[in-house]
Amino acid sequence: MKQYGKYIKPYLSAFIIGPIMMIVEVIGEVLMPWLLSVIINDGVQGASRGVTFIIAIGVLMVITALCMMAGGIGGAYFATKASSNFANDLRKDLFRKVQRFSFANIDKFSTGSLVTRLTNDITQMQNLIGMILRMALRAPGMLIGATIMAFAMNAQLALIIVIIMPILGGTIFAIVRVAFPRFQVMQKQLDTVNSDIQENLTNVRVVKSFVRTGYEEEKFGKANEELKNKSLRAMKIMILNFPMMNLCMNVATLAIVWFGGNRVIAGNMQVGDLTAFTNYVVQILMSLMMVSMIILNSSRAMASSKRIKEVLNEEVDLTDLGAKEPEKQVTEGRITFRNVYFRYYKNNPEWVLHNINLEIEPGETVGIIGSTGCGKTSLVSLIPRLYDVESREPDLPREEQGQVLVDGVDVRDYSLNNLRSGIGMVLQKNVLFSGTIKENLQWGDEDASDEEIFRAAESAKAHDFIMNFTDKYQTELGQGGVNVSGGQKQRLCIARALLKKPKILILDDSTSAVDTATEARIRENFATELKDTTKLIIAQRISSVIDADKIVVIDDGRIVGVGSHEQLMGSCHTYQEIYESQNGKETAQKKPQPAVLGKEVTV
Ligand SMILES: Nc1ncnc2c1ncn2[C@@H]1O[C@H](COP(=O)(O)OP(=O)(O)OP(=O)(O)O)[C@@H](O)[C@H]1O
Ligand SMILES: [Mg+2]
Repeated sequence: MKQYGKYIKPYLSAFIIGPIMMIVEVIGEVLMPWLLSVIINDGVQGASRGVTFIIAIGVLMVITALCMMAGGIGGAYFATKASSNFANDLRKDLFRKVQRFSFANIDKFSTGSLVTRLTNDITQMQNLIGMILRMALRAPGMLIGATIMAFAMNAQLALIIVIIMPILGGTIFAIVRVAFPRFQVMQKQLDTVNSDIQENLTNVRVVKSFVRTGYEEEKFGKANEELKNKSLRAMKIMILNFPMMNLCMNVATLAIVWFGGNRVIAGNMQVGDLTAFTNYVVQILMSLMMVSMIILNSSRAMASSKRIKEVLNEEVDLTDLGAKEPEKQVTEGRITFRNVYFRYYKNNPEWVLHNINLEIEPGETVGIIGSTGCGKTSLVSLIPRLYDVESREPDLPREEQGQVLVDGVDVRDYSLNNLRSGIGMVLQKNVLFSGTIKENLQWGDEDASDEEIFRAAESAKAHDFIMNFTDKYQTELGQGGVNVSGGQKQRLCIARALLKKPKILILDDSTSAVDTATEARIRENFATELKDTTKLIIAQRISSVIDADKIVVIDDGRIVGVGSHEQLMGSCHTYQEIYESQNGKETAQKKPQPAVLGKEVTV
């Protein structure tokens, strides 16, 4: 509860006024049966005090009812206000937390699970809070008030209540004990269903092209069926609650009418009192029912709260809290890898990168090449700290462990914002967002002028095709950029990165879907317009990196060659193999094609 204090504090007045208003309603509720008994006893039956008395009591009852109404409405309003604001702030914080998550953190929770936690789980808590505010004072108030009134009216008859109460209490306790774990299981299954939906919908094109619709339906059907079964299992217990309560209520009423009726016949009790008494018993049982509802909903919300706290308390494993130079900006673009080892999971015996040592000068163009899965993406991910290096021997001082340095400073010593602002990265799996093309490009620089946007688009060879769209830069992109071609999407992503005017530009296989002539023109633009920017270009085709200042060849997580195309052709076996596989064996012996832009190096 302590953790939720900050979501309650700003709305403390609503949290307090709501229940207080409800007390008004309770007082009215407890008074009503008594007023009714007075009318019946003195007015209807005895008619001893005349019509004016009946009217006076009647008016009092109307006033009481109006007060109850005002209390009820006010109570519900403030309860809703408090609970909605609570949920709103909590959701905001949770979202903010997820934004700060590292890739490794996100990998831990599935996207579907995070969605459920941010929506359904928070709603559960919101409902519980609303309910508590409406009932927390009302239920005990009614219980105590009605019990006192009942005992005051007839202590012997009130013993019936004393007998019924522990039976009910025991039943509620038993129900909650069984229901709680079942709700946890149900919530987990809801995660699975949400993940399935999420995965299917984002990849619906792949599903269709592989004709996997049937399979997907079956998979979803199974998960959905499981959810139904698990909900039923939990609900089966929940639904026992009301009938049990009703049974107790009816048995109690029957007993009261029986014993009370005998007393009325014997002349020991007035009819009005019996009526009021029955009402009080109903109120007592109603309040117990409310308590049981709160407890049951709490057990549900507790399961949700646990899951919310898991996100809130998840330690973000990649922060800049220990940064030694938080003010430092990336100014030159020098990159140094020093004895870098890396793996995605701790304790995994397989390293993805082995002892990487590399020096990249400011303004250099560096090509990175190697077979698929050799570690190219992993290598460049370490520069903007999408992941952190891991040491082979953690006990050594940091300088002797693996290190990635930008401008001579360990990347962990920058603030994440400053580091990432200086680096433009086009990810291998790049995405655009729903919105116009212009809005998407402005991710690179919110305040970019139209001229700057045009220039960046021109450099990435995107301007021409954008101008061919009817709405030009105002063209609406679908979610993930579905309505542009693969090559167009890649060029938009490059333009977006260029607008950042980064000191370091990383292109991870970012022109794989662009034709070679256009790709060469983009490279030409880079060479003239981004002279001072350090450019790292990961590519599958040798032609994409052939004119780089140096090419880094990676094989199985190790650097196996660094040098110009000519040098590597002479010295690096892996490079020769790649070249041969792309250009045929005989050309490998010949002098390599000069770095003619716009022409693919082919046989
Ligand atoms: N998020 C991840 N979690 C765990 N392992 C990963 C993750 N990403 C990559 N790997 C593993 O790390 C290794 C290197 O992957 P990486 O993505 O760096 O290769 P790559 O050279 O970029 O390949 P490609 O040319 O296909 O893009 C692979 O064996 C891969 O299975
Ligand atoms: Mg890759």
